[in-house]
Amino acid sequence: MREERRDEPGLATRRFAVDILGNVLDDGRPLDQVLDHRASMPAWRALSPADRALVRAIVSTTLRRLGLVDDALKRQMKRPLPGKATRVRQILRVGAAQLLFMEVPDHAAVSLATELADRDRETRPWKAMVNGVLRAVARSRDEILETQDATRLVTPLWLWRDWVETWGEDETRAFASAHMVEPALDLTVKSDAAGWAERLGGRVLPTGSVRLLPHGAVPEMEGFEAGEWWVQDAAAALPARLLGDVAGKEVADLCAAPGGKTAQLAAAGAKVTAVDLSPHRLDRLKQNLARLRLSDVATIAADLETWTPKAPFDAVLLDAPCSATGTLRRNPDVGRLKKSAQVEELAELQHRLLDRAAGWVKPGGLLVYCTCSLQTAEGEEQIARFLAEHPDYERAPVAAEEIGGLAPAITADGDLRTLPDMLPDPEPRLAGLDGFFAARLRRRT
Ligand SMILES: C[S@@+](CC[C@H](N)C(=O)[O-])C[C@H]1O[C@@H](n2cnc3c(N)ncnc32)[C@H](O)[C@@H]1O
Repeated sequence: MREERRDEPGLATRRFAVDILGNVLDDGRPLDQVLDHRASMPAWRALSPADRALVRAIVSTTLRRLGLVDDALKRQMKRPLPGKATRVRQILRVGAAQLLFMEVPDHAAVSLATELADRDRETRPWKAMVNGVLRAVARSRDEILETQDATRLVTPLWLWRDWVETWGEDETRAFASAHMVEPALDLTVKSDAAGWAERLGGRVLPTGSVRLLPHGAVPEMEGFEAGEWWVQDAAAALPARLLGDVAGKEVADLCAAPGGKTAQLAAAGAKVTAVDLSPHRLDRLKQNLARLRLSDVATIAADLETWTPKAPFDAVLLDAPCSATGTLRRNPDVGRLKKSAQVEELAELQHRLLDRAAGWVKPGGLLVYCTCSLQTAEGEEQIARFLAEHPDYERAPVAAEEIGGLAPAITADGDLRTLPDMLPDPEPRLAGLDGFFAARLRRRT
């Protein structure tokens, strides 16, 4: 039970951060979904934009560096918290993340956490412990940070094991270094990338996306209302391009919402049929396309496991549902919410969807399969199995020139494989790519 008392400044933001972190880590809900839900709540809207930004920064820092935060707390605690003490655990995490990684005065981080613990009957018995542990974290901060194996600790154990086996330990640590940094904002522009880069204070990447350090709310940036660009990671912008010149062609965009790739295909002049299971996500796709003034798109809310098109397409893009472990830079909650068993289930779903999509391509047409995952079960292994089962298909290897000369992103087999530590830059926030896999397949007969 919470009690009504006057809040000292800063308490509301920390309470929101603790609540949101609990929604993600205790209730297992994706951060984006939790923030979307909050956006409609009066108490959230009553916060100033600066306070809302602070809540987001605290939550994302805590999630991004959760392994480091928990290790720091463990070092200062005499015994572990009981499993059911969920809220006090989040209070400690929010406090420690500020002490270790944010420019918040120590006394503010400690006293606000202590006050939050005191405000709730469930957490009040822990008030002195919260105060003592966080003061100890503040005192030992330098020693803690110097002695932590940071790249190991920020990587959830199940991913560490899988990635070390697949990519090796050095590469896994390079991924982790990329994951620790808040990434830049990448935009796909309809045209005039150089002009937009200049107007928005960004730069054009070799792959054609515009990259900039975020400053302020996206909808307020120049060109948003006019529909000149959309937000899309530079790696996510590559798979649709593998379909080549799609002008005037009938193209199916399967698993289309929220529509980043649909927009690319429509902007390139394709007649797009966009299919997705989720009507809610399709609504977002439609809103995005309306803003971008891209009209030649038929949208269909359907389950691809049962839906069948009336006629085959010139080209098909399947952006299959996946573990999204390639997006940890942008979605630091992913590694904590997903588990390896889910990867196996998703890989089976991807196999079934790919198998169905294969029947919807005209002879001679292209099928591009992609996932934003670093798990080879959702990428390389999927395609090996597909080609073994489909003699009517062959791989159409990707050439470096098609993706801005990004040769390291092409595998020995000719598939696209981007990694979080690609596109290095002296300014870490301007470096990196989401981890994507894409294979281009041609139907022979
Ligand atoms: C990776 S996201 C797609 C992102 C999108 N292509 C883009 O570029 O913006 C995967 C999508 O697959 C959809 N999905 C999952 N299972 C599906 C199914 N059985 N049939 C159709 N769509 C499905 C989800 O609703 C989700 O929108």
